[in-house]
Amino acid sequence: MGFVVFVTGAAGFIGQAFVVELLRRGVLETGEGSPRSIESLVLADLAEDIPVVKGYEKEERLVRRGGVDIRDKGAFDALLDEYVGDEDMLSVFHLGGIASGDGERDDRGADLALDINFLGTRAVMTALREWNRRTGMQSRFVFTSTNAVFGPTETITDHSKVMPRTSYGTAKAMCELLINDWSRRGFLDGRCTRMPAVIPRTTQNASAASAWSEVIAKPYDGITADLSVPMETFLPVISIFRMMDNLIRLHNIPDKALGEDRVVVMPALPITLAEAAAEVEAVFKKHGRPIPTPVASYEEDPQVAGIVKDWPPQHAVVRAFELGWGVDRSVGEIITLFIENRSALP
Ligand SMILES: NC(=O)c1ccc[n+]([C@@H]2O[C@H](COP(=O)([O-])OP(=O)(O)OC[C@H]3O[C@@H](n4cnc5c(N)ncnc54)[C@H](O)[C@@H]3O)[C@@H](O)[C@H]2O)c1
Repeated sequence: MGFVVFVTGAAGFIGQAFVVELLRRGVLETGEGSPRSIESLVLADLAEDIPVVKGYEKEERLVRRGGVDIRDKGAFDALLDEYVGDEDMLSVFHLGGIASGDGERDDRGADLALDINFLGTRAVMTALREWNRRTGMQSRFVFTSTNAVFGPTETITDHSKVMPRTSYGTAKAMCELLINDWSRRGFLDGRCTRMPAVIPRTTQNASAASAWSEVIAKPYDGITADLSVPMETFLPVISIFRMMDNLIRLHNIPDKALGEDRVVVMPALPITLAEAAAEVEAVFKKHGRPIPTPVASYEEDPQVAGIVKDWPPQHAVVRAFELGWGVDRSVGEIITLFIENRSALP
C-alpha cells in the first residue's frame, strides 16, 4: 500500500513553498500518528506551467499536471484514476483558488469566488467522497480557509462570529461548513484552518494584505516598498515557514483529537507596517545586507485604506496552541527566517 499526496494550487505562492517542504520532510503522519513516506506527490493547478521544484528536478515521485481546473470534477476523477491505486492511502492539500482582491474587483468577482472557491472545492471533495466510497479508504482533505470569514471585531478568537465582508470570505465560510458536515457524515476526513496573512509573499496577488509582504520582500531586493496602507495599521500575520509547519500538524492530528469541529483558527502575530519597516533596518544591518533609503514610503489609496480599516487588529486563540501549533514571536524573527530561507520560496 503506497501513500499518495495531492496538492492543488501547486503553482501558487503557498503551493510552491509547500511542495518543497513536503519533499524536504518526505513523510506525513496518518491514522493515529504513524509516520508514512510520501511515495507519490501529484501537483495540480489551473496554470499550464507548474514550476519545476528547484533541487528536486530528478525526483521520480513528483508529477506536475498543469491545466487542471478544480471546477471540473471529471478532471480530478481522471487524476485519481491515473495516480492512486485502490489500495493506496491518499491525502489532499487543497490550496487552489482565487485571492480576496479578485473576488471584490467587480460583480463578476462574486461569481468567481462562488464558482472556484466554493463549487470548485465541492467538486474536489465530491471526487474524494466517491473515491473513498469505492475503495473503502478514508482520504484526508486539508483546506486553507482565512481570517476573512470573520466580521468586524477587535480581536479574533476561537469563537469570533463568522460574518464575512468579502465574497472571497463568504465562499471560504461555505467550504468550512461543508467540510464539517461531510466529515460528520463520514464522506471524508476533512480538516480546515483559518489562516492570517502569510508573509512575506514573494509572488504577486490581488490582496490588500500584500503591503505586509512588500515591506520586507521589496527592501530584500534593494527596492523601497511603496505602500498605500497606513503605516500604523495592525494586521495579524504568520511567516510562511510557521504556517507550513502548522498546516502539516493539521494534517497529522489523529481524527479523534480534532473531534467534531474540523476548523482550527491558526495563531497569528499582529504587526504594523511601521514596526516591520523598523525591524527590516535592524535585521538587515545585523546580516550585513544593503538597506534601501527609505525602507518604505507611504501614499494613501482611499480604496485600500477602506478595505483594511475593517480588518480585526488583534488575535488571541487557544485551541491551536493546545494542538501544538506555533506562531512567530516577533517581526524580527519573521524577517530573519525569510533571509535565511529565501531560496526555499518562489
Ligand atoms: N497567502 C495568504 O496569505 C493566505 C491567507 C489565507 C488563506 N490563503 C489560502 O491559501 C491558498 C493558497 O494561497 P496562495 O497565497 O498560494 O494563493 P495564490 O493565488 O498564490 O495561488 C493560488 C493558485 O490556485 C490556482 N487556481 C486558481 N483557480 C484555479 C482553478 N479553477 N483550478 C485550479 N487551480 C486554480 C492558481 O493558478 C494559483 O496557482 C488559497 O486557497 C488561499 O485562499 C492564503
